[in-house]
Amino acid sequence: MTDSVHLPEQAAVRGLLRAVGEALGGPVPREWREAIKAVPRHNFLPERIWLADDSGDYEACDLPTAHDCWFGAAYADVPVVTQVNDGQESPDPWPSSSASTPSVVVRMLCDLDVRPGMRVLEIGTGTGWNAALLAHRLGPENVVSVEIDPDVARQARASLYAAGLGADVICGDGADGWRRRAPYDRIVSTCSVRRVPRAWIEQTAPGGVVLTPWDSPMICWGLLRLTVGLDRTAQGRFGPHSAFMLMRTQRQDLRIFRDVVGDEHVPDESRTSFDPRQVTGDAWEARFALGLRLGEVWTAWEEDAARLWVATTDARSWAAVDPDGTVRQYGPRRLWAEVEEAHRWWDRQGRPGPERFGLTVTPAGQQVWLDDPSRTVRRGD
Ligand SMILES: C[S@@+](CC[C@H](N)C(=O)[O-])C[C@H]1O[C@@H](n2cnc3c(N)ncnc32)[C@H](O)[C@@H]1O
Repeated sequence: MTDSVHLPEQAAVRGLLRAVGEALGGPVPREWREAIKAVPRHNFLPERIWLADDSGDYEACDLPTAHDCWFGAAYADVPVVTQVNDGQESPDPWPSSSASTPSVVVRMLCDLDVRPGMRVLEIGTGTGWNAALLAHRLGPENVVSVEIDPDVARQARASLYAAGLGADVICGDGADGWRRRAPYDRIVSTCSVRRVPRAWIEQTAPGGVVLTPWDSPMICWGLLRLTVGLDRTAQGRFGPHSAFMLMRTQRQDLRIFRDVVGDEHVPDESRTSFDPRQVTGDAWEARFALGLRLGEVWTAWEEDAARLWVATTDARSWAAVDPDGTVRQYGPRRLWAEVEEAHRWWDRQGRPGPERFGLTVTPAGQQVWLDDPSRTVRRGD
């Protein structure tokens, strides 16, 4: 190919690097700039991608019929959905695999702090672009990536080989890590988790790092960076982050009217002056803190009634708050009282953001803390 054929791609890569730099608040570090130039993102996208419209719905965009839109998305600082509905037909597409937002990819690669000679395990191969960037930096022989979806894994493997960066792509549940090539200096997940899989700690060398997006039933937000100790416990802090799709094997498909609220339920009724908007919508930091404190509690918004529903993931307790302050609660847990109490607690602590929270993982389980590992965060403390 002549240089003129590469020109649009080179201009697009320069534009992408500028956009990523703006999002990060400074230039992309040299080593990742070189990797992004060497590993064109469009080579990792399938011919059909899905882009979110203004209302958040996903519309297909096909390379053969919408080249400019497709190519523009490949080099914009946006996530590109590459599979919907776990690859099944559906009139109502929801994302099940994607090429993550480039600035988020670069931020995570910087947080990962890799150096030549390190061995990295990635969970959630997706398109393979992130694995390719790592393979460019560390050598394909030092990168392993696990993807649960066979079609996605096959496509990523082909793209990596075509790029001359044939890192190992394993098709399996990333929660199991990949023992055969352990120990790793770094494990990076590009799907979010509610529980850190024990295998990740066991397969990380002492002093190594596990980096993963975090999810609670309340909100998917926060990036957790754990350092693994000699005794194979791990400890670290959260940072703010955008949402990542939840690990398939930790997913729960709960609907408030289908699974939780029954016609025979007779709830207690009370009133509140607490505005539910303090724990919904853009109240990211409050929702993140409440998600950590309340654990298995999720919310649902009923648009027509402007009613907030709160429920436990075991579907045994629920609460609903109306715009006029009427509260209905049902089940063994008084959920609305818990939400208000957790919000008051968050307020008393000075409304901490994710970076003040941390997590310790031991063979006995995982424990959230605030500021210091000795200040554990538990419901009702
Ligand atoms: C946001 S995408 C990954 C982006 C990708 N790293 C890239 O560079 O394009 C998340 C991926 O995680 C995969 N995934 C979900 N659950 C998984 C699991 N239990 N094990 C391995 N992969 C999983 C999804 O199929 C999806 O492809």
